[in-house]
Amino acid sequence: MGVRSTVPRTRPASQVIEPKPASSQCREVADEGPDHWSTMAIRAGRRPDPTTGAILTPIVQSTTYVQQAVGLHKGHTYSRASNPTVSTLEEAMGALEDALPAVACSTGMSAISTLLLAVLKAGDHVVAGRAIYGGTVRFANLVLASLGIRTTFVDTTSAASVGEAIGPSTRLVFIETPANPTLALADIAAIAKECRRRRVLLVVDNTFMTPVLLRPLDRGADVCIQSTTKYVEGHNATVGGVLTTRDTALRERFALIRKTLGTIQSPFEAWLTLQGLKTLPLRIRRHSVNALRVARFLESHPAVRRVFYPGLESFAQHDLACRQHAQGHHGGMLSFELEGGVEAGVKLMNRVRLCSLAENLGAAETLITHPVSMTHGDVPERQRREAGITDGLVRLSVGLEDPLDVIADLRGALGRGSRRRRVQARSAGSDTPHDARRGQAASPGRRGG
Ligand SMILES: Cc1ncc(COP(=O)(O)O)c(C=O)c1O
Repeated sequence: MGVRSTVPRTRPASQVIEPKPASSQCREVADEGPDHWSTMAIRAGRRPDPTTGAILTPIVQSTTYVQQAVGLHKGHTYSRASNPTVSTLEEAMGALEDALPAVACSTGMSAISTLLLAVLKAGDHVVAGRAIYGGTVRFANLVLASLGIRTTFVDTTSAASVGEAIGPSTRLVFIETPANPTLALADIAAIAKECRRRRVLLVVDNTFMTPVLLRPLDRGADVCIQSTTKYVEGHNATVGGVLTTRDTALRERFALIRKTLGTIQSPFEAWLTLQGLKTLPLRIRRHSVNALRVARFLESHPAVRRVFYPGLESFAQHDLACRQHAQGHHGGMLSFELEGGVEAGVKLMNRVRLCSLAENLGAAETLITHPVSMTHGDVPERQRREAGITDGLVRLSVGLEDPLDVIADLRGALGRGSRRRRVQARSAGSDTPHDARRGQAASPGRRGG
């Protein structure tokens, strides 16, 4: 296995900033505690270039590597198999999870397909979450099905439902938490117990939380996948994905299948991802703080029917969120439904000015998405309905702008809401945005207001 980082590994579980009890833990702005994550994100896997001393990992843009003699080389032979810049990213990402060096792929979907093709064969059965990224559903229905691999989509908010769906031919359980786009949570430790009992692999897509806020391998998962396109790189500049595991045989299998399929990350994308990674802990905390403020605003707006954000006390699985997510933060993703259903949702998305109507998530810019027509268009309608992905659902990836500007933009685009809801909201004492109640309302002169 590759050279491990010279930087101390992540802390033993006892020293990791552990969730505090629910009541004190889920505060709007968590305490600034020890920040070992930032050290790891900046230093792990990196060392000065031995030939020049360059502090940044060089971009090794080369297809091949000259060998000193037959079979004698410096660890790399051909860039479809491995590349020094990509290897540095792999070390860094692995170290963040106390795992083996990650296996870095060209996109999140290529990581998912490499993983699934590496461990599944004809006749196998997969249990997957009902509400997961639409591309993963498409891969299961289009590719796995054609290879004779069946997938059952279940409600992963219940570990028992996952357990019941596991049969004699089940090889793997694939969950996403929080799920895209409903934000529904899965209890990783409880599902891991079901999987262990039945000798089934548990794979967690941790794209929304990143290892800074959630470490699935510590909770019993066998493999963790992340689309680095999102928070890890974080600047809307690259696409990429990583697989992490603590199992040497699995890691070797992923690398072999990646070489076979040709799904490796490119050196330049890997380099940009290494730069983005340095600020991941800072960014994900700020995304979380901003998202909570925006969620509170939306929750109190008369035009909004429901808001899904794990950090809200009204969120059905708020207790689990507080237990499972680290540092009292819950990420930058939220979704909501408007009183006026689809029509109102479309109007909102066409009216926003600061929020960008686009498909990605997890970057500095706030992005607004209509899952049914964009990211989840290929999910069969029945599955969407069962998963709670309604036609009017709006997904928001809250960025790093001033949240008051985002709120002002949304307020301007939402209009005033129905008279009935305004009266209801007023009688509940909540017709004013949360921020305004604290004397922090966005000034009327701000964008979008
Ligand atoms: C949760 C999740 N997993 C995986 C992916 C796929 O990642 P990529 O777009 O990098 O292929 C996405 C993409 O939106 C996602 O949201």
